[in-house]
Amino acid sequence: MSKDSADSKNYFNPVTIIRAKRDKERLTSDQIKFMIDQYSKDELPDYQMSAFLMAAFLNGLNAEESSALTESMLYSGDVLDLSEVPGIKVDKHSTGGVGDKISLLLAPIVASCGVPVPMISGRGLGHTGGTLDKLESIPGFRTDLDLKRYREVLKKHNMVLIGQTAEIAPADKRIYALRDVTATVESIPLIAASIMSKKLAEGINALVLDVKVGSGAFMKTRLEAQKLAEKLVAIGEQFDKRTIAYMTNMDQPLGRYIGNWLEVLESVQGLKGQGPEDVMELTHLQAGTMIYLGGKADSVEQGIELSHEAVESGKAFEVFKALAAEQGGDTSVLDNTDAYPQAEHQFDLKAFEEGYISRFDAYQIGMAALELGAGRKTKEDKVDPVAGIEMVRKTGDQVQKGETIIRCYTNRKDVESVTTKQLENSVVISSKKPAETPLISHRIDKDGVTEF
Ligand code: URA
Repeated sequence: MSKDSADSKNYFNPVTIIRAKRDKERLTSDQIKFMIDQYSKDELPDYQMSAFLMAAFLNGLNAEESSALTESMLYSGDVLDLSEVPGIKVDKHSTGGVGDKISLLLAPIVASCGVPVPMISGRGLGHTGGTLDKLESIPGFRTDLDLKRYREVLKKHNMVLIGQTAEIAPADKRIYALRDVTATVESIPLIAASIMSKKLAEGINALVLDVKVGSGAFMKTRLEAQKLAEKLVAIGEQFDKRTIAYMTNMDQPLGRYIGNWLEVLESVQGLKGQGPEDVMELTHLQAGTMIYLGGKADSVEQGIELSHEAVESGKAFEVFKALAAEQGGDTSVLDNTDAYPQAEHQFDLKAFEEGYISRFDAYQIGMAALELGAGRKTKEDKVDPVAGIEMVRKTGDQVQKGETIIRCYTNRKDVESVTTKQLENSVVISSKKPAETPLISHRIDKDGVTEF
């Protein structure tokens, strides 16, 4: 415990705790719990929580401090008991990327293989997209179900897709919003506590994690991503949830489309067996791992086979449609995607020279999608479901001068020049074909790190 410990039983001076972390001291579990409890009760102001978060961001939290933070955030709300739902409940979480629509594909695949998927997802954040915004682009789709409906829908369809309710890790919800505006997002212990407090509250038995690394991820280097993956797995296992993480590349957007409806469209194509290679590779690996953890396959490989069968037979798409209808969605647009409204304006980024696309900056592309209307600059902004980006070309492709690389869709009249500039800076064309970067690099579980 740091110098100035409890003034009285479990009452601390917040300034003392902030100072201790600022000065690189270790905090006790009680001190961390105190900060989270006080903040949850509105007895600690945003400015003190922000200072605490920045001190933790700069000086880190060790293993005990991280678990104390996770536990305090987890118990700031309810921990759901889903034991009345038969089966091993498994969820998946991605640390966030651009064009990452994998949850939309894998949840119905896994559910159709008999594994319940109780999924609580988030909204878009900064340059990254969010599952809830994508789902809400289906007219009428409700993601704000209460916990009673959450259980009912899960029992009926083996899956449910909702947003964080007031009962689920409310401290995370508030702290996350604060981190977003105080430059304290990209911290391994803060991300780990944020993700795991939500996931552990959901009532799951096992978890698959997709830890993104690269220009469009919060973790820019392999080493940082590995540290985050190890921490997430350690917390999951500590809470008796079997947890498997994959480190996957986020140097270029995943798939062909970025944007809310555009990503639903691509997911529908994927569920009909016509998805892009990178999207389907990640989907089948993560779905296969969930099917294995859910006890419906003897190995991840067998789980992957079942995942392929679920797509090929059409049963995963049927589950997705049934779930969408149950949650209020108009499924006619899933059957006939051409009936969906189109963006009013369209413009292209063209190759400025001949050569190979050697690099994209996925962060810049995510920010351009936001500018087109697909994301939010403030919490109050509304996302435009049809705004977004089509990656006509991907890394490694050869292009001639003047050929389209990226197509933009928007209802905003005045964004073409600013997005075009952003996108020009996001592409590197070179005379040599770049070396291929593997999409999936490592698996991390309780036994350690395995190269893929
Ligand atoms: N996703 C989360 O839920 N929390 C973070 O802190 C980062 C990504």
